Amino acid sequence: MKNIAVFASGRGSNFSTILGKIQAGEIAARVTCLISDRAQPPVFDIAREAGIPTYWISRKHFANPDDYVNFLLGVLSQHAVDLIVLAGYLKMIPIPVVQKYRGAILNIHPALLPNFGGHGLYGSKVHEAVLASGVKTTGATVHFVDEHYDTGPIIKQEQVAVLEHDTPESLAHRVLEAEHRLYPEVVRAFCEGKIKLIDHKVQWSL
Ligand code: GRF
Repeated sequence: MKNIAVFASGRGSNFSTILGKIQAGEIAARVTCLISDRAQPPVFDIAREAGIPTYWISRKHFANPDDYVNFLLGVLSQHAVDLIVLAGYLKMIPIPVVQKYRGAILNIHPALLPNFGGHGLYGSKVHEAVLASGVKTTGATVHFVDEHYDTGPIIKQEQVAVLEHDTPESLAHRVLEAEHRLYPEVVRAFCEGKIKLIDHKVQWSL
């Protein structure tokens, strides 16, 4: 049974979907803590209702980066975390945390990486960029997290067609539906030991 820490900054629909699968016994894991860079994001309500401890941890709370990193690592270790799931978390994960948990930090991005990712491309900005480019296919990507935004090894993607009359909102809606299929599937596979990062490459075993 894996212990998961979820990092999230906003509404928490991916967290909620994954939590639902855990509660239904479809993913053998427990979410042992939820961490946010924001004081009261809506996602905290979902966690609290499920009795999951929530932490507001912001770099701004600490006099220097080392204290911040040590606090974060302390919380993760206190909750015996095996897997970190980023679900709409808008801050960079500090490098020492990436190094300690390499191969055990997942992120979901609402486009087909390596396209339409990177610093500043989040939320509706991603879908606006997709529509402006004229591509006919977008989607969702789950990847391992490395030291940069959206560049880590890709684990799985689901494609979504871009339709003629799509707006950023209509596209975001269909991509989110894909996210809610893709992310729990990857989390489940990880928890079953079927996905590993070896020499910076993703290895699936079925
Ligand atoms: C999702 O679109 C995800 O791809 C991105 O942030 C959004 C989070 O949505 N990383 P939610 O908070 O899970 O509803």
